[in-house]
Amino acid sequence: MAVRTVLKMGDPTLLATAQPVAGFDTPELHALIEDLLDTMAAEDGAGLAAPQIGVGLRVVVFGFEQNERYPEADAVPRTVLVNPVIEPLSDDHDSGWEGCLSVPGLRGVVSRFTHIRYQGFDQFGNAINREAHDFHARVVQHECDHLDGILYPQRMTDMRFFGYTDVLENL
Ligand code: NI
Repeated sequence: MAVRTVLKMGDPTLLATAQPVAGFDTPELHALIEDLLDTMAAEDGAGLAAPQIGVGLRVVVFGFEQNERYPEADAVPRTVLVNPVIEPLSDDHDSGWEGCLSVPGLRGVVSRFTHIRYQGFDQFGNAINREAHDFHARVVQHECDHLDGILYPQRMTDMRFFGYTDVLENL
């Protein structure tokens, strides 16, 4: 178990498509998930994807009771999600501020689906199948984008709503 270095935007590893996990409940997968959870906790992140620590596998972790970066957000269940699939359940979108541990110090407004279903597996191979709304849905979409090499600035449509957190917080 270890806190790993989070790769930053510009590193080509973050732009690669991650590969599905082939085997569950393996020592390698458990070690990866421990590192992801330790790193997310150390950085006080809302979520973290395996490519962000340089591992090209389709694994994300997310969730919090209360998050300093998103004080207004409702709690999101702590989740380990392997080989995720997202399905929008309506066409409704909402614009909201996002940050990313791979894009430190910055925030940007991104439009996301407000109501999704996500499916996948936990580290033991148990199926996960949930509906999510609003911030929960936003976090899942952000984390799963990392598995396809997409960072949130690539989803932005209005760069006026992109800035440094310390400036934005003082507006
Ligand atoms: Ni991110």
